Amino acid sequence: MNLTKTEEKMLDGEEGYAVKKSMEILVALGNIYCAEKLIEVGSVQVAGVSYHNLGDAGLEFLNELAKDGKVKVLTTLNPAGMDLEDWRNLGIDEEFARKQNLVIDAFRKMGILISCTCTPYLIGNLPLYGEHIAWSESSAVTFANSVIGAKTNREGGPSALAAAFVGKTPYYGLHLDENRGPDTHVEVKAKLTKISDWGALGYCIGKQVQNKIAYITGIKEASLDELKSFCASVVTFGSKPLFYIRGITPGSEKYQPPKEKIILEDRDIREAYETINDDVEDIDFVCIGCPHASIKEIAQIADLLENKKISPNTEFWVATSRSMKQLADIKGYTAVIERAGGKFACDTCMAVAPVKGRFRAIATTSAKGCYYSRHNNLLTKMGSLEECIDAAVKGKWS
Ligand code: F3S
Repeated sequence: MNLTKTEEKMLDGEEGYAVKKSMEILVALGNIYCAEKLIEVGSVQVAGVSYHNLGDAGLEFLNELAKDGKVKVLTTLNPAGMDLEDWRNLGIDEEFARKQNLVIDAFRKMGILISCTCTPYLIGNLPLYGEHIAWSESSAVTFANSVIGAKTNREGGPSALAAAFVGKTPYYGLHLDENRGPDTHVEVKAKLTKISDWGALGYCIGKQVQNKIAYITGIKEASLDELKSFCASVVTFGSKPLFYIRGITPGSEKYQPPKEKIILEDRDIREAYETINDDVEDIDFVCIGCPHASIKEIAQIADLLENKKISPNTEFWVATSRSMKQLADIKGYTAVIERAGGKFACDTCMAVAPVKGRFRAIATTSAKGCYYSRHNNLLTKMGSLEECIDAAVKGKWS
């Protein structure tokens, strides 16, 4: 890989340990993927924030970098393992909270915004069309590439952090226009009537196209929340963080549908639900907000919970960013949700919080949420927001 004089100096350690280490990571990555050079990035999103996933080895790695590392571009953080303010209310134990706070301290020292959300594009880290960025949360990477039209590979936590310290990333993969063309035409004949249908659609497309770029036709409209849910699902069950929806997402007008074609019908969506949903009736955990809930979703939750009470056998979380919760406070939605017995899980979510062993069965609107909940040994039910709220109130899926 060709390095400039300044980059060579960074690699030699002239800007300190964190930058040197970061350059080593970026050069190694660049060499593996035959990148010709590094390119500047407009922003970075760092995943790998929960102490649940990092452990002591991860914390030590971060503390080493935090000694002299300062980010050079706007850098935001993925969800942590707990609500940073109200962690006791979510049943997090003292020792976990202490360790999680040490992780956050390290990131804060690096100059990273303690945003703790997987929807940075909803709270101010909003890239421009065509802008090169280095993001490392799969749902956000897919949203940035496909819905915003920015350009990013699916970074790992360390490579994103390295890009933040250097302000650059290797020029390969989805940064190159020649790698961004669609490979497979997906015609959607299925009707999509509720938010969870978009997770089911992501399941079907992800499973079938895997590492190819889908060019999707047959969809007439899509809201931001539907696209957000679809992005999370398609990359969880497939692996390519880029798709096009004709007439809806940017860049789709540049391409014709590829020859290779698959058709998805109502029965495919039904089968996706059958695979994702377990045979379970009693629900002791309901979590909405995967990816993190928008203010519109929080408004819908408040509307459905007005004058209702969450079952005493069920824990109800709204996973969202702290900024979104602050907006919900002002709008009065927080009061309605909390009056019903619901809790806000700011800065975290059902996948990265240490919930393993605490609950038996979760209901959620999100296919990705179900996928990761199974890793936490939970039985899963995916459905509309109305069905999930109903399950929270009755403690049962009906
Ligand atoms: Fe976000 Fe957690 Fe879902 S990080 S996309 S809410 S699994």
